[in-house]
Amino acid sequence: MDQFQLRDGVLHAEGVPLPDIADAVGTPVYLYSRAALTAQARAFREGLAGLDNPHLAFAVKANPNLAVLRVLQREGFGADVVSGGEMTRALAAGMAAEDIVFSGVGKTHAELLQGIEAGIGQFNIESEEEGYELALLAERHGKRAACALRVNPDVDARTHEKISTGKRENKFGVPIDRAASIYAALSAQPGLDMRGVAVHIGSQLAELEPLEGAFAKLGALIAELRGAGLSVSHADLGGGLGVPYKAGEVFPSAAEYGAMVVRATKGWDVRLMFEPGRYICGNAGVLLTRVIRSKRSGNGPPFVIVDAAMNDLARPAMYGAWHDFDAVEPTGEHMTAHIVGPICETGDTFAMDRETDALSAGDLAVFRTAGAYGATMASSYNSRGFVPEVLVDGDRFAVVAERIAPQAILDAEHVPDWLA
Ligand code: LLP
Repeated sequence: MDQFQLRDGVLHAEGVPLPDIADAVGTPVYLYSRAALTAQARAFREGLAGLDNPHLAFAVKANPNLAVLRVLQREGFGADVVSGGEMTRALAAGMAAEDIVFSGVGKTHAELLQGIEAGIGQFNIESEEEGYELALLAERHGKRAACALRVNPDVDARTHEKISTGKRENKFGVPIDRAASIYAALSAQPGLDMRGVAVHIGSQLAELEPLEGAFAKLGALIAELRGAGLSVSHADLGGGLGVPYKAGEVFPSAAEYGAMVVRATKGWDVRLMFEPGRYICGNAGVLLTRVIRSKRSGNGPPFVIVDAAMNDLARPAMYGAWHDFDAVEPTGEHMTAHIVGPICETGDTFAMDRETDALSAGDLAVFRTAGAYGATMASSYNSRGFVPEVLVDGDRFAVVAERIAPQAILDAEHVPDWLA
């Protein structure tokens, strides 16, 4: 169920009217629904009911807010992290170190060490070079690091090119045709406990076939590894399940995804691991914004200038992504408009020629499906500061990330003495 719905003509987040939050916290502000997060987490788990004890690791990059992570920790999720910073967050949210998977092509020496010292559950190694470095570090600390080898299956995920990760030309994983020899070489390292393989072919996937194709290649690799006498007890199938961004769009359900996984992994005899991000939090969040003013330009539709901008929600500027845009108190009137932010470049455009609720200066509106890859991708471009985040739970809400004012960012900058 959508947790952002009209009640008596006013958009609510669960039981809270959005104008109340705007009054209390100001705009722009990201809002998350605890009920929506929980429902998605449970739907994902239920979709995998046909599997024996899957490991669920939320992809922290999708929404690293501490309170969001805590909601998911309470749902039994571990974390998929890609930096030392994300690891620190997952641990701060109460996730057990052994439930943390560390992915990423460029883990630094310091980050590998942080993972070893924290005793995280699994490193997803993305190159032979990284494997040797980790082996050395682990040995020096008298430890064996549990690892999976991330393979690049050379499969087209049929999604936006900037979020495709499983083609040969992408930087991720080791080429599948070299995976067996690399796995064998790394298995001989005393510092490593090579326990499995991993794959992640991309994000916002609208179809299951590319995933199934990648999993088939992974299954063949597992058989080949075992045939060579190597042990494989885990397989990490990554994330990628897409979500609707437009009202009415239909995406594969968690149940369909789960049925496909059961089919594709039959007889693997491993513990399966998953790294969903967007599926869990995408539709659990909106970005609440206020119209600054409208202006006419030429003969075209008006520009509706809102107080959120590309620095707050980067996806439209970065990927040409669509986010539904709705008035908080719709009058029933409609208009065609260009929806833009205040930033000084044309890329700061959320939508062109959008059929939308009629809006004028001072009105509140939301960009929907902003719970994943929203606040986390924010910058302070144009010295705009960082937007706060609010978590709603029934009829209560709390600020779970404070607004970072431009002054706070300025306070961290210094003019050296020799320029005084
Ligand atoms: N595992 C790995 C190794 C990943 O690289 C990712 C996402 C995930 C899991 C989670 O994927 P999800 O279930 O969320 O699709 N900023 C882009 C999305 C980038 C995704 C990067 N990797 C966007 O706004 O669309």
